[in-house]
Amino acid sequence: MIFPERDAAVATGGDRMRALVCERYGSPDVLTFAKRPRPSPRKDEILIRVLASTITSGDRRVRSMDMPTGFQTLGRLALGWHGPRKAVLGAEFAGVVQAVGSRAKGFTPGDAVFGISGFGMGAHAEYLCMRAKGALAHKPAQMSFEGAAALSFGGGTALSFLNRAGLCAGEKILVNGASGNVGTAAVQLARVMGAEVTGVCSAAHLEQVRSLGAARVMNYSQEDFTQLHQQFDVVFDVACNHGVERCLNVLKPGGRLIRLQAGLPEMCRALLQPRRAGRHIIVGTAEERADHLDYLAELVRQGSYCPVIALVFPFDEAIEAHRYADRPGHGGSVVIRMRGSEKKEVPASA
Ligand SMILES: NC(=O)c1ccc[n+]([C@@H]2O[C@H](COP(=O)([O-])OP(=O)(O)OC[C@H]3O[C@@H](n4cnc5c(N)ncnc54)[C@H](OP(=O)(O)O)[C@@H]3O)[C@@H](O)[C@H]2O)c1
Repeated sequence: MIFPERDAAVATGGDRMRALVCERYGSPDVLTFAKRPRPSPRKDEILIRVLASTITSGDRRVRSMDMPTGFQTLGRLALGWHGPRKAVLGAEFAGVVQAVGSRAKGFTPGDAVFGISGFGMGAHAEYLCMRAKGALAHKPAQMSFEGAAALSFGGGTALSFLNRAGLCAGEKILVNGASGNVGTAAVQLARVMGAEVTGVCSAAHLEQVRSLGAARVMNYSQEDFTQLHQQFDVVFDVACNHGVERCLNVLKPGGRLIRLQAGLPEMCRALLQPRRAGRHIIVGTAEERADHLDYLAELVRQGSYCPVIALVFPFDEAIEAHRYADRPGHGGSVVIRMRGSEKKEVPASA
């Protein structure tokens, strides 16, 4: 069905949809289920029936207003002072195109898609509108909707920062926080790029990180990577549990340090002093790009990339899913499935 303009979309029979709503900041207890108006696509948008979504570290940060140092006030100004202005959270999703705006190109009703709405959020609901030119791609046919929902956030973040670091074949990279959403993606993508990977994580996830392609794994409760004698071309610091100076100890001259959780003071220092002792510090936010998602989908088709899923919850248990995602050490993506009522573990090949 193609809608000439926004108002006509109301004629989809669209009225109300079920959504998980967050109207004030706090623990998962602030979340409630509510009926919300079903969105209708503008001319350049498509309407997607969401079949699966995830609870990312981004959703958890917005829900709890837990921002890196120096971003508390900016975060509230940008997202809402007492609670999120966009009360329906959910940044990544997979689903089926339901309707297409008159100027939206590249998608037709019935297409299976996945993508990331970023701070636009809205994926913890039965329907979502996205710009057709946004971070959206066709779902790889062999992948479930649960698997595809977990493709964009970790994979897109890792790809965006690895590209900025210019990781090359034959280089050595250390990923600190290798077992989480971004880390498991970084390990796999660095391998695809031909790098040799060292992964740092808890004892519980050592084998998993090794199976994703890390040549060496380190248990952070037994070894401190900043004390290694070895040096790396790239350190991808997801966990950011050590200071910058200590991380620079294990970086070769000309090496690149990616700091995913840099606070405002650290960001300012990195931007004003982009190189320290010949080493480049990379901070900021990940780009959300359709071509990155196409690339990840192609890797899935080739069998060289697969997001790691911790657990799939039915939508009815989405509040419980937030509690689960808040637990340290859950590993991989926490997925919510819009239909069905059973909770299940999904192997990495899903
Ligand atoms: N700048 C950006 O654009 C951007 C984008 C995405 C995410 N982020 C940020 O990056 C962070 C991680 O995101 P995520 O989604 O990957 O989170 P996640 O799935 O919760 O993963 C957290 C990772 O940190 C590891 N970890 C915990 N304590 C550690 C320690 N002491 N030493 C080493 N590793 C440790 C965990 O290992 P175990 O589970 O094995 O304990 C896990 O691998 C979040 O703070 C998020 O806000 C930033």
